Amino acid sequence: MKSAVFAAGLALCALVASGPSIGQETFRNTVTGDVLDIDANAPAEGRDTPAVKKFLETGVNPYTEVPGCLPKGEEVYLESCSGCHGHVGEGKVGPGLADAYWTYPKNKTDKGIFETIFGGANGMMGPHSDIELDNMLKLIAWIRHIQVEDVSDADWLTDEQKKAFKPFDLKKWESEGKAAAEKQECKISGN
Ligand code: HEC
Repeated sequence: MKSAVFAAGLALCALVASGPSIGQETFRNTVTGDVLDIDANAPAEGRDTPAVKKFLETGVNPYTEVPGCLPKGEEVYLESCSGCHGHVGEGKVGPGLADAYWTYPKNKTDKGIFETIFGGANGMMGPHSDIELDNMLKLIAWIRHIQVEDVSDADWLTDEQKKAFKPFDLKKWESEGKAAAEKQECKISGN
């Protein structure tokens, strides 16, 4: 009896000592379902921030609706995505990203859209694993910010964020929103 308890204790110690590997979530390619090797493919820069660590553990983007993160998110979007998805996600050769319809419903979650961007989807939607992880979270925050349709089905927003959400207005962003956001820091609460 005693030795059984001892053995169980040993097993527990071994478990605790081995600890979790990077992050706790498993990320998968949107089309094939293959596991994405984030550790091997993400740039060395920008992977140790509090936001990235939190995201890899929870699958939730802590930068959603953090104004200070939006200008960089917009910059990355304009550099890497707008050529195919349109200046404000209205759609071009790639589908619209600012409306309530998603080809892959999982893109309504932060984890799902990260998997689609990092690992790619079909045809011209190649993998974008070259984007620094911290910037990727800012990019996703930007895509969520430019939504123009009803967000009641938006799994990426909390109920509180849904209540506060206003459809994106490019004129307002360019005339005042961006300048105000640039004055703020991009960091998550509690850090
Ligand atoms: C060369 C053109 C091209 C570029 C550049 C590109 N995409 Fe795409 N994207 C596409 C196409 C085409 C699809 C449709 C693929 C499919 O249905 O599998 C797509 C699909 C998507 C989807 C899935 C949309 C849905 O309705 O479920 C997301 C999200 C997405 N792209 C985000 C991005 C982001 C973010 C970037 C920039 C980092 C980007 N894409 C860059 C062409 C592109």
